[in-house]
Amino acid sequence: MTSTSLKPPSRTSRKVQKLINTTYRNNSASDYTEKIDELCQSFNYPSNSLHYWSDPQQSLLYASPLYEEASPNQKLALNHLHWFANYNYISNSETETVIFNQVTADVFSSQASLQTLVDELVLETEQEHYHIKAFRKIGLATAKALIGRQGLNALLKWNSYKLTLGKEPIPTYQYRTLRSLAAIMHRKARLQYTSYLRNLEAENQFLFKAPTAGMLGRSLNYSLPIESFLGFNWGGGSLFMACHFYTIRIIANLYLKNMEHGIAKFYQKLKKRGEFIPTPTAVSRYHFLDESFHTSISQLLAKDAYRDFPQATAYEKFVANLAIYKMQQGTLGGISAVFPHRYFGDDCSVLELVYRVLQSSLFGMSDRDALYWVERCFCQEHQGFHEAVANRQRLLAELRRFFADFDYLWSVNRNMSLMASLGGVERAIGNNRQIFRQFASSHTPEN
Ligand SMILES: [Fe+2]
Ligand SMILES: [Fe+2]
Repeated sequence: MTSTSLKPPSRTSRKVQKLINTTYRNNSASDYTEKIDELCQSFNYPSNSLHYWSDPQQSLLYASPLYEEASPNQKLALNHLHWFANYNYISNSETETVIFNQVTADVFSSQASLQTLVDELVLETEQEHYHIKAFRKIGLATAKALIGRQGLNALLKWNSYKLTLGKEPIPTYQYRTLRSLAAIMHRKARLQYTSYLRNLEAENQFLFKAPTAGMLGRSLNYSLPIESFLGFNWGGGSLFMACHFYTIRIIANLYLKNMEHGIAKFYQKLKKRGEFIPTPTAVSRYHFLDESFHTSISQLLAKDAYRDFPQATAYEKFVANLAIYKMQQGTLGGISAVFPHRYFGDDCSVLELVYRVLQSSLFGMSDRDALYWVERCFCQEHQGFHEAVANRQRLLAELRRFFADFDYLWSVNRNMSLMASLGGVERAIGNNRQIFRQFASSHTPEN
Protein backbone atom coordinates (compact mmCIF):
# COMPACT_ATOMS: atom_id res chain seq x y z
CA MET A 1 0.00 0.00 0.00
CA THR A 2 1.33 3.47 -0.79
CA SER A 3 1.51 5.95 2.00
CA THR A 4 0.52 9.50 1.23
CA SER A 5 2.80 11.83 3.19
CA LEU A 6 1.12 13.32 6.22
CA LYS A 7 0.30 16.98 6.22
CA PRO A 8 1.09 18.80 9.46
CA PRO A 9 -2.03 18.77 11.63
CA SER A 10 -4.26 21.73 10.81
CA ARG A 11 -6.91 23.21 13.10
CA THR A 12 -9.51 21.11 11.34
CA SER A 13 -7.36 18.02 11.81
CA ARG A 14 -7.24 18.57 15.54
CA LYS A 15 -11.02 19.04 15.56
CA VAL A 16 -11.41 15.87 13.50
CA GLN A 17 -9.02 13.92 15.73
CA LYS A 18 -10.80 15.04 18.87
CA LEU A 19 -14.23 14.03 17.56
CA ILE A 20 -12.96 10.67 16.36
CA ASN A 21 -11.35 9.97 19.76
CA THR A 22 -14.48 10.98 21.69
CA THR A 23 -16.80 8.94 19.45
CA TYR A 24 -14.56 5.88 19.64
CA ARG A 25 -14.28 6.12 23.43
CA ASN A 26 -18.04 6.51 23.93
CA ASN A 27 -18.93 3.85 21.39
CA SER A 28 -16.49 1.33 22.93
CA ALA A 29 -17.90 2.00 26.40
CA SER A 30 -21.54 1.57 25.32
CA ASP A 31 -23.43 -1.71 25.55
CA TYR A 32 -26.24 -1.09 23.05
CA THR A 33 -25.04 -3.80 20.64
CA GLU A 34 -24.91 -6.35 23.47
CA LYS A 35 -28.47 -5.39 24.43
CA ILE A 36 -29.62 -5.82 20.81
CA ASP A 37 -28.05 -9.28 20.74
CA GLU A 38 -29.71 -10.34 24.00
CA LEU A 39 -33.09 -9.11 22.76
CA CYS A 40 -32.63 -10.92 19.46
CA GLN A 41 -31.80 -14.22 21.22
CA SER A 42 -34.93 -14.13 23.36
CA PHE A 43 -37.40 -12.89 20.71
CA ASN A 44 -40.53 -14.82 19.98
CA TYR A 45 -43.44 -13.34 18.08
CA PRO A 46 -46.37 -14.49 20.27
CA SER A 47 -44.96 -12.68 23.34
CA ASN A 48 -44.92 -9.41 21.40
CA SER A 49 -47.93 -9.81 19.15
CA LEU A 50 -50.52 -8.00 21.26
CA HIS A 51 -48.73 -4.66 21.39
CA TYR A 52 -47.89 -1.86 18.98
CA TRP A 53 -44.16 -1.70 18.18
CA SER A 54 -44.29 1.97 17.13
CA ASP A 55 -46.92 4.67 16.69
CA PRO A 56 -49.77 3.49 14.41
CA GLN A 57 -48.54 6.07 11.86
CA GLN A 58 -45.68 3.65 11.23
CA SER A 59 -47.89 0.87 9.83
CA LEU A 60 -48.14 -0.80 6.46
CA LEU A 61 -51.07 0.73 4.51
CA TYR A 62 -51.53 3.46 7.14
CA ALA A 63 -54.22 5.99 6.12
CA SER A 64 -55.22 3.96 3.06
CA PRO A 65 -58.90 3.02 2.51
CA LEU A 66 -58.07 -0.54 3.58
CA TYR A 67 -56.61 0.67 6.88
CA GLU A 68 -59.81 2.56 7.62
CA GLU A 69 -61.75 -0.70 7.34
CA ALA A 70 -59.24 -2.94 9.13
CA SER A 71 -60.06 -4.45 12.55
CA PRO A 72 -57.91 -3.63 15.62
CA ASN A 73 -56.09 -6.98 15.24
CA GLN A 74 -55.39 -6.40 11.57
CA LYS A 75 -54.07 -2.92 12.35
CA LEU A 76 -51.70 -4.37 14.92
CA ALA A 77 -50.37 -6.86 12.36
CA LEU A 78 -49.89 -4.05 9.80
CA ASN A 79 -47.81 -2.21 12.38
CA HIS A 80 -45.58 -5.29 12.82
CA LEU A 81 -45.26 -5.82 9.07
CA HIS A 82 -44.07 -2.24 8.68
CA TRP A 83 -41.23 -3.01 11.11
CA PHE A 84 -40.37 -6.24 9.24
CA ALA A 85 -40.28 -4.67 5.76
CA ASN A 86 -38.42 -1.52 6.74
CA TYR A 87 -35.76 -3.33 8.73
CA ASN A 88 -35.37 -5.84 5.94
CA TYR A 89 -34.34 -2.93 3.69
CA ILE A 90 -32.15 -1.48 6.44
CA SER A 91 -30.37 -4.81 6.92
CA ASN A 92 -29.65 -4.96 3.18
CA SER A 93 -28.20 -1.45 3.39
CA GLU A 94 -26.10 -2.31 6.40
CA THR A 95 -24.66 -5.23 4.42
CA GLU A 96 -23.39 -2.61 1.95
CA THR A 97 -22.01 -0.56 4.84
CA VAL A 98 -20.09 -3.59 6.13
CA ILE A 99 -18.32 -3.89 2.76
CA PHE A 100 -17.48 -0.23 2.24
CA ASN A 101 -16.50 0.43 5.86
CA GLN A 102 -13.75 -2.14 5.35
CA VAL A 103 -12.81 -0.87 1.89
CA THR A 104 -12.33 2.68 3.19
CA ALA A 105 -10.81 1.70 6.57
CA ASP A 106 -7.96 0.13 4.57
CA VAL A 107 -7.37 3.44 2.78
CA PHE A 108 -7.38 5.38 6.07
CA SER A 109 -4.94 2.91 7.58
CA SER A 110 -2.23 4.42 5.33
CA GLN A 111 -2.28 7.41 7.72
CA ALA A 112 -0.71 6.83 11.13
CA SER A 113 -2.81 9.66 12.56
CA LEU A 114 -6.04 7.90 11.58
CA GLN A 115 -5.52 4.66 13.52
CA THR A 116 -8.35 5.46 15.96
CA LEU A 117 -10.66 6.06 13.01
CA VAL A 118 -9.73 2.65 11.63
CA ASP A 119 -10.46 1.08 15.05
CA GLU A 120 -13.82 2.88 15.14
CA LEU A 121 -14.72 1.58 11.67
CA VAL A 122 -13.79 -1.97 12.68
CA LEU A 123 -16.02 -1.61 15.76
CA GLU A 124 -18.90 -0.18 13.68
CA THR A 125 -18.59 -3.06 11.23
CA GLU A 126 -18.85 -5.59 14.06
CA GLN A 127 -21.89 -3.77 15.38
CA GLU A 128 -23.56 -3.85 11.93
CA HIS A 129 -23.18 -7.65 11.86
CA TYR A 130 -25.20 -7.88 15.09
CA HIS A 131 -27.78 -5.37 13.80
CA ILE A 132 -28.27 -7.31 10.58
CA LYS A 133 -28.65 -10.59 12.47
CA ALA A 134 -31.29 -9.12 14.81
CA PHE A 135 -33.30 -7.43 12.03
CA ARG A 136 -33.35 -10.61 9.97
CA LYS A 137 -34.21 -12.97 12.80
CA ILE A 138 -36.98 -10.83 14.28
CA GLY A 139 -38.29 -9.74 10.87
CA LEU A 140 -38.50 -13.22 9.39
CA ALA A 141 -40.13 -14.74 12.48
CA THR A 142 -42.72 -11.95 12.35
CA ALA A 143 -43.44 -12.27 8.64
CA LYS A 144 -43.69 -16.06 8.93
CA ALA A 145 -46.18 -15.75 11.79
CA LEU A 146 -48.30 -13.22 9.91
CA ILE A 147 -48.30 -14.23 6.27
CA GLY A 148 -47.11 -17.83 6.53
CA ARG A 149 -44.23 -19.64 4.93
CA GLN A 150 -45.97 -19.76 1.55
CA GLY A 151 -46.50 -15.99 1.49
CA LEU A 152 -42.93 -15.40 2.54
CA ASN A 153 -41.59 -17.70 -0.19
CA ALA A 154 -43.66 -15.84 -2.79
CA LEU A 155 -42.15 -12.57 -1.57
CA LEU A 156 -38.62 -13.93 -1.74
CA LYS A 157 -39.31 -15.13 -5.28
CA TRP A 158 -40.21 -11.58 -6.36
CA ASN A 159 -37.16 -10.16 -4.65
CA SER A 160 -34.84 -12.67 -6.27
CA TYR A 161 -36.49 -11.92 -9.63
CA LYS A 162 -35.52 -8.27 -9.12
CA LEU A 163 -31.95 -9.17 -8.25
CA THR A 164 -31.49 -11.56 -11.15
CA LEU A 165 -31.97 -8.56 -13.44
CA GLY A 166 -28.49 -7.49 -12.44
CA LYS A 167 -27.12 -10.96 -11.91
CA GLU A 168 -26.16 -11.64 -15.49
CA PRO A 169 -22.43 -12.24 -15.42
CA ILE A 170 -20.47 -9.02 -15.89
CA PRO A 171 -18.47 -9.24 -19.08
CA THR A 172 -14.84 -9.38 -17.99
CA TYR A 173 -13.87 -6.73 -20.54
CA GLN A 174 -16.44 -4.31 -19.08
CA TYR A 175 -15.13 -4.89 -15.58
CA ARG A 176 -11.49 -4.54 -16.65
CA THR A 177 -12.27 -1.39 -18.64
CA LEU A 178 -13.90 0.33 -15.67
CA ARG A 179 -11.02 -0.77 -13.43
CA SER A 180 -8.43 0.62 -15.86
CA LEU A 181 -10.42 3.81 -16.32
CA ALA A 182 -10.42 4.38 -12.56
CA ALA A 183 -6.63 3.76 -12.45
CA ILE A 184 -5.98 6.17 -15.35
CA MET A 185 -8.14 8.85 -13.80
CA HIS A 186 -6.38 8.43 -10.46
CA ARG A 187 -3.17 9.02 -12.47
CA LYS A 188 -1.77 5.64 -11.51
CA ALA A 189 -0.50 2.78 -13.61
CA ARG A 190 -2.62 0.51 -11.47
CA LEU A 191 -5.00 1.11 -8.61
CA GLN A 192 -3.43 1.11 -5.17
CA TYR A 193 -5.88 -1.54 -4.11
CA THR A 194 -6.46 -2.00 -0.43
CA SER A 195 -6.01 -5.48 0.95
CA TYR A 196 -9.75 -5.91 1.56
CA LEU A 197 -10.53 -5.16 -2.11
CA ARG A 198 -7.71 -7.39 -3.31
CA ASN A 199 -9.11 -10.28 -1.28
CA LEU A 200 -12.65 -9.68 -2.50
CA GLU A 201 -11.48 -9.69 -6.09
CA ALA A 202 -9.34 -12.78 -5.61
CA GLU A 203 -12.29 -14.62 -4.06
CA ASN A 204 -15.00 -13.65 -6.53
CA GLN A 205 -12.98 -12.87 -9.63
CA PHE A 206 -14.91 -9.57 -9.53
CA LEU A 207 -15.51 -7.32 -6.52
CA PHE A 208 -19.09 -8.49 -6.09
CA LYS A 209 -20.71 -11.83 -6.78
CA ALA A 210 -24.19 -10.34 -6.91
CA PRO A 211 -25.64 -6.84 -6.74
CA THR A 212 -26.38 -5.57 -3.25
CA ALA A 213 -30.02 -4.88 -2.41
CA GLY A 214 -29.78 -1.90 -0.07
CA MET A 215 -29.85 1.86 -0.60
CA LEU A 216 -26.74 1.85 -2.79
CA GLY A 217 -27.62 -1.19 -4.91
CA ARG A 218 -31.15 0.12 -5.51
CA SER A 219 -29.80 3.54 -6.48
CA LEU A 220 -27.47 1.95 -9.03
CA ASN A 221 -30.28 -0.19 -10.50
CA TYR A 222 -28.58 -3.30 -9.13
CA SER A 223 -25.76 -2.80 -11.61
CA LEU A 224 -22.68 -4.85 -10.69
CA PRO A 225 -20.27 -2.95 -12.96
CA ILE A 226 -21.26 0.45 -11.55
CA GLU A 227 -21.09 -0.77 -7.96
CA SER A 228 -17.64 -2.23 -8.64
CA PHE A 229 -16.64 1.05 -10.31
CA LEU A 230 -17.52 2.96 -7.14
CA GLY A 231 -15.61 0.33 -5.15
CA PHE A 232 -12.48 0.96 -7.29
CA ASN A 233 -12.78 4.66 -6.55
CA TRP A 234 -13.60 4.49 -2.83
CA GLY A 235 -10.86 1.92 -2.23
CA GLY A 236 -8.30 3.02 -4.82
CA GLY A 237 -6.04 4.86 -2.37
CA SER A 238 -7.45 8.40 -2.61
CA LEU A 239 -8.26 9.85 0.80
CA PHE A 240 -10.78 12.24 -0.74
CA MET A 241 -12.67 9.34 -2.34
CA ALA A 242 -12.53 7.28 0.85
CA CYS A 243 -14.10 10.22 2.70
CA HIS A 244 -16.64 10.60 -0.08
CA PHE A 245 -18.15 7.19 0.67
CA TYR A 246 -19.38 8.80 3.89
CA THR A 247 -21.60 11.25 1.97
CA ILE A 248 -23.44 8.15 0.75
CA ARG A 249 -23.39 6.63 4.24
CA ILE A 250 -24.78 9.81 5.83
CA ILE A 251 -27.71 9.71 3.38
CA ALA A 252 -28.41 6.17 4.65
CA ASN A 253 -27.95 7.29 8.29
CA LEU A 254 -30.39 10.19 7.92
CA TYR A 255 -32.85 8.05 5.95
CA LEU A 256 -32.92 5.55 8.82
CA LYS A 257 -33.07 8.23 11.51
CA ASN A 258 -36.13 9.81 9.89
CA MET A 259 -38.02 6.60 10.66
CA GLU A 260 -36.22 5.27 13.73
CA HIS A 261 -36.25 8.42 15.82
CA GLY A 262 -40.05 8.04 16.04
CA ILE A 263 -39.66 4.49 17.42
CA ALA A 264 -37.03 5.66 19.95
CA LYS A 265 -39.51 8.30 21.17
CA PHE A 266 -42.26 5.65 21.32
CA TYR A 267 -39.94 3.54 23.54
CA GLN A 268 -39.43 6.49 25.91
CA LYS A 269 -43.18 7.06 26.12
CA LEU A 270 -43.81 3.42 27.10
CA LYS A 271 -40.97 3.48 29.62
CA LYS A 272 -42.23 6.67 31.24
CA ARG A 273 -45.68 5.15 31.63
CA GLY A 274 -44.23 1.89 32.97
CA GLU A 275 -45.88 -0.09 30.15
CA PHE A 276 -44.72 -3.28 28.43
CA ILE A 277 -41.96 -2.61 25.90
CA PRO A 278 -42.06 -4.98 22.91
CA THR A 279 -38.69 -6.48 21.94
CA PRO A 280 -38.61 -4.94 18.42
CA THR A 281 -39.28 -1.48 19.91
CA ALA A 282 -36.33 -1.93 22.26
CA VAL A 283 -34.11 -3.21 19.42
CA SER A 284 -34.97 -0.11 17.37
CA ARG A 285 -34.21 2.15 20.31
CA TYR A 286 -30.78 0.59 21.00
CA HIS A 287 -30.06 0.59 17.28
CA PHE A 288 -30.91 4.28 17.17
CA LEU A 289 -28.32 4.85 19.91
CA ASP A 290 -25.63 2.72 18.22
CA GLU A 291 -26.28 4.50 14.95
CA SER A 292 -25.83 7.92 16.53
CA PHE A 293 -22.09 7.08 16.81
CA HIS A 294 -22.02 5.98 13.17
CA THR A 295 -23.84 9.16 12.10
CA SER A 296 -21.24 11.32 13.90
CA ILE A 297 -18.44 9.55 12.04
CA SER A 298 -20.23 9.79 8.66
CA GLN A 299 -20.83 13.48 9.22
CA LEU A 300 -17.24 14.12 10.21
CA LEU A 301 -15.69 12.27 7.27
CA ALA A 302 -18.17 13.57 4.70
CA LYS A 303 -18.08 17.19 5.79
CA ASP A 304 -14.81 17.98 7.57
CA ALA A 305 -12.08 15.36 7.26
CA TYR A 306 -11.66 15.53 3.47
CA ARG A 307 -10.51 19.14 3.78
CA ASP A 308 -7.32 17.93 5.50
CA PHE A 309 -6.30 15.81 2.52
CA PRO A 310 -5.03 16.61 -0.99
CA GLN A 311 -7.69 18.45 -3.00
CA ALA A 312 -10.05 16.42 -5.15
CA THR A 313 -9.29 16.22 -8.86
CA ALA A 314 -11.95 17.15 -11.43
CA TYR A 315 -12.46 13.43 -12.05
CA GLU A 316 -12.97 12.69 -8.34
CA LYS A 317 -15.47 15.50 -8.06
CA PHE A 318 -17.33 14.10 -11.05
CA VAL A 319 -17.54 10.56 -9.57
CA ALA A 320 -18.53 11.99 -6.18
CA ASN A 321 -21.35 14.03 -7.69
CA LEU A 322 -22.53 11.17 -9.85
CA ALA A 323 -22.88 8.86 -6.83
CA ILE A 324 -24.96 11.39 -4.87
CA TYR A 325 -27.08 12.11 -7.96
CA LYS A 326 -27.80 8.37 -8.30
CA MET A 327 -28.84 8.18 -4.63
CA GLN A 328 -31.33 11.00 -5.24
CA GLN A 329 -32.71 9.18 -8.24
CA GLY A 330 -32.77 5.75 -6.53
CA THR A 331 -33.39 5.30 -2.83
CA LEU A 332 -34.66 8.89 -2.45
CA GLY A 333 -36.53 8.92 -5.76
CA GLY A 334 -40.23 8.73 -4.88
CA ILE A 335 -42.92 7.81 -2.37
CA SER A 336 -44.77 4.62 -1.53
CA ALA A 337 -48.55 4.22 -1.43
CA VAL A 338 -48.34 1.86 1.54
CA PHE A 339 -45.09 2.56 3.43
CA PRO A 340 -45.20 5.99 5.06
CA HIS A 341 -41.43 5.82 5.64
CA ARG A 342 -40.12 4.65 2.30
CA TYR A 343 -38.71 7.35 0.12
CA PHE A 344 -38.71 5.59 -3.26
CA GLY A 345 -41.52 4.39 -5.48
CA ASP A 346 -43.32 1.06 -5.19
CA ASP A 347 -42.37 -1.94 -7.29
CA CYS A 348 -43.90 -5.36 -7.93
CA SER A 349 -42.47 -6.83 -4.73
CA VAL A 350 -44.41 -4.31 -2.60
CA LEU A 351 -47.64 -5.12 -4.47
CA GLU A 352 -46.88 -8.80 -3.90
CA LEU A 353 -46.38 -8.22 -0.16
CA VAL A 354 -49.75 -6.47 0.19
CA TYR A 355 -51.45 -9.09 -2.01
CA ARG A 356 -50.04 -11.90 0.18
CA VAL A 357 -51.09 -10.12 3.38
CA LEU A 358 -54.64 -9.77 2.06
CA GLN A 359 -54.78 -13.44 1.11
CA SER A 360 -53.28 -14.67 4.39
CA SER A 361 -55.47 -15.81 7.26
CA LEU A 362 -55.14 -12.29 8.63
CA PHE A 363 -57.52 -10.83 6.01
CA GLY A 364 -58.67 -14.05 4.34
CA MET A 365 -59.49 -12.46 0.98
CA SER A 366 -60.11 -14.23 -2.31
CA ASP A 367 -57.76 -13.59 -5.25
CA ARG A 368 -60.30 -11.25 -6.81
CA ASP A 369 -60.87 -9.16 -3.65
CA ALA A 370 -57.15 -8.99 -2.92
CA LEU A 371 -56.45 -7.71 -6.43
CA TYR A 372 -59.28 -5.15 -6.11
CA TRP A 373 -57.77 -3.76 -2.89
CA VAL A 374 -54.23 -3.75 -4.27
CA GLU A 375 -55.44 -1.58 -7.15
CA ARG A 376 -57.44 0.68 -4.87
CA CYS A 377 -54.59 1.26 -2.40
CA PHE A 378 -51.79 1.67 -4.95
CA CYS A 379 -53.49 3.36 -7.89
CA GLN A 380 -56.02 5.74 -6.36
CA GLU A 381 -55.18 8.80 -4.30
CA HIS A 382 -55.60 8.49 -0.53
CA GLN A 383 -54.29 10.09 2.64
CA GLY A 384 -51.44 7.54 2.94
CA PHE A 385 -49.67 9.15 -0.04
CA HIS A 386 -49.78 12.52 1.71
CA GLU A 387 -48.42 11.07 4.96
CA ALA A 388 -45.52 9.67 2.93
CA VAL A 389 -44.91 13.05 1.28
CA ALA A 390 -44.77 14.79 4.68
CA ASN A 391 -42.26 12.25 6.08
CA ARG A 392 -40.12 12.52 2.96
CA GLN A 393 -40.18 16.32 3.11
CA ARG A 394 -38.63 16.18 6.59
CA LEU A 395 -35.79 14.06 5.28
CA LEU A 396 -35.36 16.35 2.28
CA ALA A 397 -35.03 19.39 4.57
CA GLU A 398 -32.44 17.58 6.69
CA LEU A 399 -30.40 16.50 3.66
CA ARG A 400 -30.53 20.03 2.26
CA ARG A 401 -29.21 21.42 5.54
CA PHE A 402 -26.43 18.85 5.51
CA PHE A 403 -25.25 19.39 1.93
CA ALA A 404 -25.82 23.17 1.75
CA ASP A 405 -22.19 24.25 2.09
CA PHE A 406 -20.33 21.52 0.19
CA ASP A 407 -18.08 23.39 -2.22
CA TYR A 408 -17.44 20.50 -4.62
CA LEU A 409 -21.06 19.52 -5.22
CA TRP A 410 -23.15 20.37 -8.27
CA SER A 411 -26.09 22.59 -7.31
CA VAL A 412 -28.53 19.72 -8.08
CA ASN A 413 -26.80 17.77 -5.27
CA ARG A 414 -26.27 20.69 -2.88
CA ASN A 415 -29.98 21.56 -3.08
CA MET A 416 -31.18 17.97 -3.47
CA SER A 417 -33.36 19.33 -6.25
CA LEU A 418 -33.68 15.99 -8.04
CA MET A 419 -35.09 14.39 -4.87
CA ALA A 420 -37.41 17.39 -4.47
CA SER A 421 -38.76 16.96 -8.00
CA LEU A 422 -39.51 13.22 -7.65
CA GLY A 423 -41.78 13.18 -4.60
CA GLY A 424 -45.19 14.05 -6.09
CA VAL A 425 -48.37 12.03 -5.47
CA GLU A 426 -49.46 12.16 -9.12
CA ARG A 427 -46.15 10.79 -10.31
CA ALA A 428 -46.35 7.95 -7.75
CA ILE A 429 -49.87 7.01 -8.86
CA GLY A 430 -48.86 7.07 -12.55
CA ASN A 431 -45.91 4.80 -11.73
CA ASN A 432 -48.13 2.44 -9.70
CA ARG A 433 -50.73 2.14 -12.47
CA GLN A 434 -48.03 0.94 -14.82
CA ILE A 435 -46.71 -1.55 -12.27
CA PHE A 436 -50.20 -2.75 -11.43
CA ARG A 437 -50.86 -3.65 -15.09
CA GLN A 438 -47.74 -5.82 -15.07
CA PHE A 439 -48.64 -7.30 -11.68
CA ALA A 440 -52.28 -8.05 -12.59
CA SER A 441 -51.28 -9.84 -15.80
CA SER A 442 -49.37 -12.39 -13.71
CA HIS A 443 -52.10 -12.73 -11.04
CA THR A 444 -55.27 -13.67 -12.88
CA PRO A 445 -57.98 -14.22 -10.24
CA GLU A 446 -59.38 -17.75 -10.06
CA ASN A 447 -62.27 -16.89 -7.76
FE1 LIG B 1 -26.89 -0.58 12.10
FE1 LIG C 1 -24.53 2.04 11.07
